[in-house]
Amino acid sequence: MKIERVCAVYFSPTGNNRKIAAKLSTQLAAALGAPKKLIDITPPRAREGKYEFQETDLVVFVLPTYAGKLPNKLLPYMQSGFVGNGAPAVAVVSFGNRAFQNSLAELNVTLSADGFRPISGGAFVAEHAFSPAIGAGRPDAEDWAEIAALGEATLDFLKSWDGGPVTLEVPGDAKAPYYVPLGLDGKPKAFLPAKPNTDMERCNRCGACVKLCPVGSINPDNVAETPGICIKCHACIRLCPLGAKFMDDENFLSHRGMLERDHTDRKQPVWMVAKPE
Ligand SMILES: Cc1cc2nc3c(=O)[nH]c(=O)nc-3n(C[C@H](O)[C@H](O)[C@H](O)COP(=O)(O)O)c2cc1C
Repeated sequence: MKIERVCAVYFSPTGNNRKIAAKLSTQLAAALGAPKKLIDITPPRAREGKYEFQETDLVVFVLPTYAGKLPNKLLPYMQSGFVGNGAPAVAVVSFGNRAFQNSLAELNVTLSADGFRPISGGAFVAEHAFSPAIGAGRPDAEDWAEIAALGEATLDFLKSWDGGPVTLEVPGDAKAPYYVPLGLDGKPKAFLPAKPNTDMERCNRCGACVKLCPVGSINPDNVAETPGICIKCHACIRLCPLGAKFMDDENFLSHRGMLERDHTDRKQPVWMVAKPE
C-alpha cells in the first residue's frame, strides 16, 4: 500500500495526546519517506471546517479518554468533521491510569463511519489531567517503547496489505454508557456543573486561559468568569503560568481523591493491528 502523506489529528488540552501524535507520526513519516502534517483540533476554530483525506494518506488519530469514552462534547465533531475516503487510520486513545474502557471502541467505530479504514490502534497511559499524581510521568520509557512497537507493527501491516477490506478488533463497546465518577466514599459524585475558580491575587489577566480553553468558555474581559460550558479538561488549571486556576467543587475533589488513592497501580497499554477480512 503506497502512502504519500502521514497526518496526525489530535485533541490535547493538557498536552499528552500532542506528544503521542507527534512522536508516532514522526516515526511513520520517516519510515515511509512521506511528508507529515499535524492537525491540532484542540482550539475551537480548528473545528469549524471539515478535513478531507485520500486513500494515499495514513491518518493517525490521538484522543483522550473522558469518563471511559471519547469526550462527549468532541464526539459530534468527530462524527461530522472528517471525510476519510478510504484512508487508512491509526486509532489511538490515551487514558489517565484508571481505565480506557470504551473510548478506543468508540474511536474505531467513529472513524469507520467517517470513511476511514482503521488498520491499527492502541490505548496508552498518560498522566491524568486531574492530578499529576495519577499516572505520574507517563508516558515513560516503557510506554514510548510500546508506542514505537505500534508504529513498527503498523508499518509491517502496510508492507503486506493489498488495500482489501480489513477489520480492527479492539476491546470495549462503543454503545456502552459513560463511566460514573465515584468519590472517596465509593458513591457516585456528579460534578457536571463544576467550573474552575480563579485566585485573583495570583492572576495577572494575561489571558492564556482564554486562549487555551478548547471550548472557548472563559470571558476574555473577566477571566474569573466561565460563562460557557466546562468540560473539566484542566487546560486552564494545568497550563496557567501563575497557577491561578483551581477546582473547589466538593464532588470533583472527592473523585480526584479517590483516583489518587485507588489508581496508583501501574496500568498497562494495549495495541493491536487489523486482520484482512
Ligand atoms: C474530564 C476528564 C475525564 C477523564 N476520564 C478518564 C477516564 O475515564 N479514565 C482514565 O483513565 N483517564 C481519564 N482521564 C484522563 C485523560 O484521559 C488523560 O489525562 C489524557 O491523556 C488527557 O489528554 P491531554 O493531555 O492530551 O489533554 C480524564 C480526563 C479528563 C480531563
